[in-house]
Amino acid sequence: MADIFERLLKNYGPIGEHRERSHGYYTFPKLEGEIGNRMKFRGKDMVVWSLNNYLGLANHPDVRKADTDATAEFGLAYPMGARMMSGNSVYHEQLEKELAEFEMKEDVILLNYGYQGIMSAIDAICGRHDVVVYDAESHACIIDGLRLHTGHRYVYRHNDVEDCEKQLQRATALVEKQNQGGILVITEGVFGMAGDQGKLKEICALKDKYEFRLLVDDAHGFGTLGKTGAGAGEEQGCQDDIDLYFSTFAKSMASIGAFIAGPRTIVDYIRYNIRSQIFAKSLPMPYVIGNLKRLEMLRSMPELKERLWKNALQLQNGLKERGFDIGKTDSVVTPVYMKGGVPEATAMVTDLRENYGIFCSIVVYPVIPKGHIIYRLIPTAVHTSGDIEATLNAFSETKEKLDAGAYKVEDIVHMAEAR
Ligand SMILES: Cc1ncc(COP(=O)(O)O)c(C=O)c1O
Repeated sequence: MADIFERLLKNYGPIGEHRERSHGYYTFPKLEGEIGNRMKFRGKDMVVWSLNNYLGLANHPDVRKADTDATAEFGLAYPMGARMMSGNSVYHEQLEKELAEFEMKEDVILLNYGYQGIMSAIDAICGRHDVVVYDAESHACIIDGLRLHTGHRYVYRHNDVEDCEKQLQRATALVEKQNQGGILVITEGVFGMAGDQGKLKEICALKDKYEFRLLVDDAHGFGTLGKTGAGAGEEQGCQDDIDLYFSTFAKSMASIGAFIAGPRTIVDYIRYNIRSQIFAKSLPMPYVIGNLKRLEMLRSMPELKERLWKNALQLQNGLKERGFDIGKTDSVVTPVYMKGGVPEATAMVTDLRENYGIFCSIVVYPVIPKGHIIYRLIPTAVHTSGDIEATLNAFSETKEKLDAGAYKVEDIVHMAEAR
């Protein structure tokens, strides 16, 4: 019989296999200091482009005070137990009410974490006769939710509305043949890697021809898009046609937790049937009170979103002017596409960090095809014009070196910390 542990040790996976050279640097780096545009990495000052702290709320003094006061008053324990049994509070319900109003929906259910929350919501909503139609580049939490789904699913090419319609036709035919079940379409409001918005308006328009419900994961659109910051649905003028709107608090709100907004009856159904919340402790009070404070600021300080967009556009326009390919982003997420191997990419990142003081994340094979490198830059409201200029100059210089072959190395640059 094979020993499971023995098998694991033979193959640490596509990223884990490089851990001896990468751990603590390319993987599991430790950013230190106050969360913001500038932080310390291995003792050096860095301009940081890796944090989804879009509105800069993470370290705002009012947020820090709300978090601290709530922790002093309640600690991390209260309320104990799952919401349904003993873990409910007026603050949890107040946050749900305020989020529902903000998202222009009837009701909201809070989720402890976005990842397990949306997985579990898909499980709660879909029965075995239901069919899910979903975007090929959906976040891992949606894919894992679909693993729990025992019925059929049809994937459509990323943001390809024609293909979405084709899959809707297949799903409709299947549901009609079964004579039971319905259809759920799942997409994202903003795709976090490439920064392109989901084609929500076009998908909603398909409701004229097909019968389905729409669930949107708007993790990156919440707080960053739409007139009031209500997200990609508001931005595209189709918030009413989104049946279930999901976002995490892990990005614009710089916190922990998540929520789903929708019709009162359906949210209530989810409330009474979502296993990840029914069988887990509710959000601790400092998170709930901290999130109430963040939501109040998100609503009452439009200047945060304005500053975010000013910075995003300065960064994106600057990159385009210098000839960089930033793909199809129409959100603040800013990818920079380059060509090169994985070792080359690590040499370039090392140069950027060590000699230019620029900290950003790279995406390489196997997440994307071999020979491609994506830098993923996340502008925030607290970046400065100086941060952006320094970054643009660093990118121009390192790209020249990349094109000249200066980063050609045999293997991933060894930057791991001693363990
Ligand atoms: C699109 C998307 N959905 C869901 C999640 C998961 O949210 P959480 O971090 O709250 O688990 C993330 C990442 O945070 C995300 O990017």
